[in-house]
Amino acid sequence: MNQTSWQIEDAENLYKISHWSNGYFALNEKGEVTVKAQENAKAVSLIDLIDGMHIRGKTMPVLLRIQNLLEKQIQLINESFAKAITDSGYQGNYRGVFPIKVNQQAHLIEDIVRFGAPYQHGLEAGSKAELMIALSMLKEPGPLIVCNGYKDQEFVELGLGMVKLGFNVVFVIETPAELPIILESSEAMHIRPVIGVRAKLFANAAGHWTSSGGDRSMFGLNTRQLVEVVDKLKEADMLDCLQFLHYHLGSQIPNIGDIRKGVREACRYYIELVEEGAPMKYLDLGGGLAVDYDGTRTSSVHSRNYSLQEYCVDVVETIQLVLDEKQIPHPTIVTESGRATVAYSSVLLFDILDVAGFADTKLPERREDEHPLISNLYYAYETLNYKNAQEVFNDALYYRDEARNSFIRGNLPLRVRSEVEQIFMVIMKAIAVIINDYPDALSEPEVLKTMLADIYYGNFSVFQSLPDAWAIDQIFPLMPIHRLTERPNRATIIADLTCDSDGKIDKFVQNGELVRTIPLHAIREDEPYYLGVFLVGAYQETLGDLHNLLGDTHVVSVYIHQDGNFDFVNEIEGDSVSDVLSYVEYQPHTLLSNFRETAEKAVRSGRITPAERQKLVSRFEAGLRGYTYYEQ
Ligand SMILES: Cc1ncc(COP(=O)(O)O)c(C=O)c1O
Repeated sequence: MNQTSWQIEDAENLYKISHWSNGYFALNEKGEVTVKAQENAKAVSLIDLIDGMHIRGKTMPVLLRIQNLLEKQIQLINESFAKAITDSGYQGNYRGVFPIKVNQQAHLIEDIVRFGAPYQHGLEAGSKAELMIALSMLKEPGPLIVCNGYKDQEFVELGLGMVKLGFNVVFVIETPAELPIILESSEAMHIRPVIGVRAKLFANAAGHWTSSGGDRSMFGLNTRQLVEVVDKLKEADMLDCLQFLHYHLGSQIPNIGDIRKGVREACRYYIELVEEGAPMKYLDLGGGLAVDYDGTRTSSVHSRNYSLQEYCVDVVETIQLVLDEKQIPHPTIVTESGRATVAYSSVLLFDILDVAGFADTKLPERREDEHPLISNLYYAYETLNYKNAQEVFNDALYYRDEARNSFIRGNLPLRVRSEVEQIFMVIMKAIAVIINDYPDALSEPEVLKTMLADIYYGNFSVFQSLPDAWAIDQIFPLMPIHRLTERPNRATIIADLTCDSDGKIDKFVQNGELVRTIPLHAIREDEPYYLGVFLVGAYQETLGDLHNLLGDTHVVSVYIHQDGNFDFVNEIEGDSVSDVLSYVEYQPHTLLSNFRETAEKAVRSGRITPAERQKLVSRFEAGLRGYTYYEQ
């Protein structure tokens, strides 16, 4: 493909938007990424949304939440289960609960409760604080409130209080120590609670979170503990309270075979509990429903080899098959899907501030008294051809490293090292041209690509906004959101604003392969260049941290109407400098008065005038009020 033949389809082919976007994101004829939630709705350009943000005074970076996508995912999960249940003649129902830990932000939980209301979609709490969110956000009885996590008396009594108010609270026993607390508190409050048990399954799922499942997992009861809990409930004459079985194999389970194995084993536990005399009603599979982040539709850790409908059908049919053998009534199926519910609805938008590139590196002029390393590199350059590319690559690396080591030992001047690095880069560029035509000329062309990659400096923090990209090498779809009618001809890696060597994104998926660079457009002076990181609604907001005191980004929530009009329903101001300083125990007003004093001393000693002092103090004050990210 040459520059002129680049079409919008080529951009689709490169970034594979239709593979990971679940139909929500696409490209328009202007070369912009668009979003829509409904099949026949008018798509909205993300650039138009950014324009709307600018008018409202919001600068990059911004976390864009698209409410409709959340609404649509809740609808899809519930309706896919409903369809699987109807089609297979399953006798029970489905009840979803959203695990609050996946994104605790108040507006988002409010939306989940509202969009989930038609389906009685409930909430899962793993701590006291999360339980308080659930208790105050679910205003009408009906949806389930599943209490996981270690529970102390306060936790249990809060939940029991809600039962008194008519809410469907389930206390899932994760450790044997919780049982006496639940028994004593419910006796004291004259309540017969719904009790669940979390089983440690033998089944294990492949993926990042393998250790969440299996018999060595940290949470849940092993078989001996399970039997003891049943016996204690019998002793206390409370076996009728045991109605709920829960397990969780781990998040992001890429392989449907693992999901089926887990369900089958859980059904065996369910049957045994029924046979022990417990009036079982619910089977809770926990989370695990994966998101296809890399768009490969495979069992890679960033993907899944099944659709949502297949997941529902497989779960429903497996339970039906196993329980029918024993003629046990079908339970209400509960899932705690977090990732699949919220990932799609958030996009991180940021601009590129600067580029460090090597495109204009030139050969230095030759000199008679040049250093032997320079002569050697020139020789390598002049003899380079497609047959010896690997050898020249190795030689050039060797000479460059020699130069670096000699410099460190004090045996090579800076200017010579600089010339060595320049010739080295020119050689690398020449090899890159060769491997365009002869891809086999180098054994590891990816290494060369990374060396030649431009570094694009983005106005964001990986640690704050994409912590999983740093911590567990999670891949998120990333691409420019405009200029897609132009060929992106720079191979790049993306660095963030932190001065940390880990503050970068240098792993991408292209055509199903993990690659170290992503093609982006050359940036133009005085014209913003925007990138979007998609599918970031799950886990990223809460796990993010304050590395370099780069704080929360602005959050803008939009609702998009069928006709393409959109409402800005919520704008949450990102952290100011003053906010992040106070998180680490500084008092912004003390900092300001310290600074005032320092400036006043400078006036007294005649270093600055009172007017200059005033300007400095005003600048300090404005700095405290400002955004923690780069402001134009
Ligand atoms: C008990 C429990 N339920 C549900 C979830 C959510 O999992 P997912 O986001 O894969 O749906 C988790 C997360 O690991 C969990 O620990």
